[in-house]
Amino acid sequence: MDHPTQVSLSRTLLAMIEQRQTSMANDIFLNPVESYTSLDQQRREQQHVFGSRPLMIGLGGQLAYPGDFLTDDLSGVPVLVVRDNNGSLNAFINVCRHRGARLLNGSGNIAGAMICPYHGWAYGLDGQLQRLNPPGSFEGLSCTERNLTRLSVLEQHGLIWVHPTPGGQIDEAQTLGLLTHEVQCFGFQHYSHYQTRRLRRRFNWKVVVDTFLENWHFSTLHRQTVLPIFLPGISHFEGCGQHLRLIMPRRSIVELFDQPEEQWDLLRHSAIMYVLFPNTLLVWQGDHLEVWRVFAAGPRCVDQCLIEVSLHVPAAPTSAKEKTHWDKNMILLMDTVDGEDFQLAKYLQKGYASHAQQYLTFGRNEPALQHFHRAIRAAIDEGEN
Ligand code: FES
Ligand SMILES: [Fe+2]
Repeated sequence: MDHPTQVSLSRTLLAMIEQRQTSMANDIFLNPVESYTSLDQQRREQQHVFGSRPLMIGLGGQLAYPGDFLTDDLSGVPVLVVRDNNGSLNAFINVCRHRGARLLNGSGNIAGAMICPYHGWAYGLDGQLQRLNPPGSFEGLSCTERNLTRLSVLEQHGLIWVHPTPGGQIDEAQTLGLLTHEVQCFGFQHYSHYQTRRLRRRFNWKVVVDTFLENWHFSTLHRQTVLPIFLPGISHFEGCGQHLRLIMPRRSIVELFDQPEEQWDLLRHSAIMYVLFPNTLLVWQGDHLEVWRVFAAGPRCVDQCLIEVSLHVPAAPTSAKEKTHWDKNMILLMDTVDGEDFQLAKYLQKGYASHAQQYLTFGRNEPALQHFHRAIRAAIDEGEN
């Protein structure tokens, strides 16, 4: 986010604080409970919302050096991303072309070739099969016919995007869309990956996104954790095409009242949520970035999801004090989101299945929730018409 935008948004936020206001939608919005419980809805989302969309896989800092790789299975497609010796990223389906074994697990660095654990076929970092083993057993076949199956990959302003379908193309203008310049200003390509946690939880994947889309529950649910840090009930919302941005001011933002505008640093005094439609959240947390990715746990798992959260920091810690600082951030994050929001969310899902009501009611003070669910609905409608 550039400085003129920070100043303009800070002015709006300070006025909101003085007038005790928050961004408001025009009307209340009724969201069908079925959206969280129906297998048919899940099927339509898979087809039209996720469909042929590229996946945001992570940040470039996770693959800083040649040979660094990561694997990712959350979308259901086994993806392998590796940085080659020229510094470029290659992405493949993580499946050996001999008899289909999984080539690599987890993340790490490979020096030289990627060796299949089953019979030892070796592939270069460019996915090319180096030798058909054992000699004489595959006569008539050439190595080039059994290279790894390539996926499109794009490294853009520090974010890595992979298209999960072979042959699928990534449109650079579409990934971040209206948020392109704003995300670019953060310089995430210089960030260092600190830690990743993965969770499997018993609620619909959209509940995870919903969790981040309003802050007026801070004064009830998060009294012991983040209420001392944030001003509850005040937030600035903006829809950015299918994506959105929601800014939640920290209590420290009132310091700006006493500073000249040229010194205003909104990034230090707020949490900024970006929903990269449909299932990725970039959460700017004052001095570092959280990335949340969420997926349905399987094609028939409407009430279970897989969640990944990663902490990315401006520079790798060089002292115990810096490490302690980032560890504390991870603990607060897990205590708040997993310990409070997700504990409550288990019962949300049970409540949805109880037939207590047909609709959830999103208030005028919940415009980000309205925008997200409208975008889901629109993507499905557009796909079906
Ligand atoms: S399945 Fe990979 S070498 Fe046989
Ligand atoms: Fe929360």
